[in-house]
Amino acid sequence: MKFIIKGGNPLKGEITLAGAKNAATKMLVASLLSAKPITLHNIPDILDVAITGELCESVGSSIQREETNIFIHTPEIINTCVLSLSRKNRIPILALGPLLARQGTAEIPLLGGDKIGPRPVDMHLEALRAMGALIEKRESSYYATAPQGLKGVKIVLRYPSVGATENALLAAILAKGRTVIENAAVEPEIIDLIKFLQNIGAIIELGTNRRIYIDGVSALHGGEYTILPDRNEAVSFASLALANNGTIFVRGARQDDLITFLNAYRKVGGEYKIEPMGITFWRAGTLRSIEIETDTHPGFMTDWQQPFTVALTQAHGTSILHETVYEDRFGHIIDLNTMGADIRVFSKCLGEIPCRFSGMNHGHSILVNGPTPLHASCLTIKDLRAGMAHVIAALVAEGASELHNIEELDRGYEHIDERLKNIGANIIRSEDTI
Ligand code: EPU
Repeated sequence: MKFIIKGGNPLKGEITLAGAKNAATKMLVASLLSAKPITLHNIPDILDVAITGELCESVGSSIQREETNIFIHTPEIINTCVLSLSRKNRIPILALGPLLARQGTAEIPLLGGDKIGPRPVDMHLEALRAMGALIEKRESSYYATAPQGLKGVKIVLRYPSVGATENALLAAILAKGRTVIENAAVEPEIIDLIKFLQNIGAIIELGTNRRIYIDGVSALHGGEYTILPDRNEAVSFASLALANNGTIFVRGARQDDLITFLNAYRKVGGEYKIEPMGITFWRAGTLRSIEIETDTHPGFMTDWQQPFTVALTQAHGTSILHETVYEDRFGHIIDLNTMGADIRVFSKCLGEIPCRFSGMNHGHSILVNGPTPLHASCLTIKDLRAGMAHVIAALVAEGASELHNIEELDRGYEHIDERLKNIGANIIRSEDTI
């Protein structure tokens, strides 16, 4: 499938945020820890949720969906091998903890790298092994057992990985004794996951300095939870307003989740108005260049740099962006340059402090020279956030662009074409592949 986008006109209006992809998918897997019924509200209608739902159903969940609510109930785990899913994402690795806790065995597919880097899972496996899991790497799977059950231990992550923190957290909920996760990731989606788990009976404490304490319980009960709004969508729409000189009220956007982004937004010449129900974003005047380093929360998030970079192509001067979370997240720059941007990729750390990718020859820093007019082009979307950068660039560019492989966008942005149409975008979804 493809989008045909005619750009060039500033977009104006209101967009409502969907529930956060990176919380919704985790809560579905976390619900496997409980044998009781669970209701999740504000579930986004995206492919990654559908894929995760399929994973849960394959192990024994019954799922009903009504508008933005999901009712999920897993009275028994009937299958612990999740190799035959028809579609893939990176979520199955998080099912290890719940399956081991409830059934003592689990088999999940090997994940491999993707468009943004090799994405190893060594920290996930180390944490689970420390808790008593025996994990064997097979030809196309990880096979895990926990002959003595899972037990609480101290886990020190060498990097505050979102996924490894979530994996250790889920495994600890029903483990024997106390687990301490040190150097944990503390992204808002993780805090939301913790709040959901507390709601259904878990005992979790947040300490200072990235510490999370979990006291294992023998069982969880049922309950309801409303998922937080998607801050990555908020940043995408805010960046769109900046790049395309539009004015967009993002209903559901929350200052608390966006503090670092809002500072960058104002520094480059964007402005915003924070209201109880959301935030309005617009361009206040001439855009200026900026230096940004991506980081774990509360830093400037890696998923924000791709949409924001498009706005930087319209700023006067040279902006510097140092990506420190993933080694290979500038694959889309070649496409932005095809559309007229002037961006150079460097393997040097163009930041104050060399990051862990220093000297490893990964293109993980960019210089963006602007302003440059963007022109329409025919592109293929390679990953979710880079795909949003392409959409924004196409909405800035005069003329008709074609964006192929929009299934990548459907993974994480709910009905994105419909929502953009509502604020004046000229965007058509076409089944054609050419
Ligand atoms: N890492 C390791 N070993 C591990 C785990 C991670 O070296 O065992 C490395 C990764 O290779 C990467 C860094 O640690 O260089 C950070 O990875 P992290 O585990 O934090 O990321 P993730 O859990 O795989 C989630 C989001 C990403 C988001 C990152 C960072 C989901 C499903 N994905 O990924 O979101 O960029 O955290 O915040 O929650 C997206 O939504 O498009 C997306 C990619």
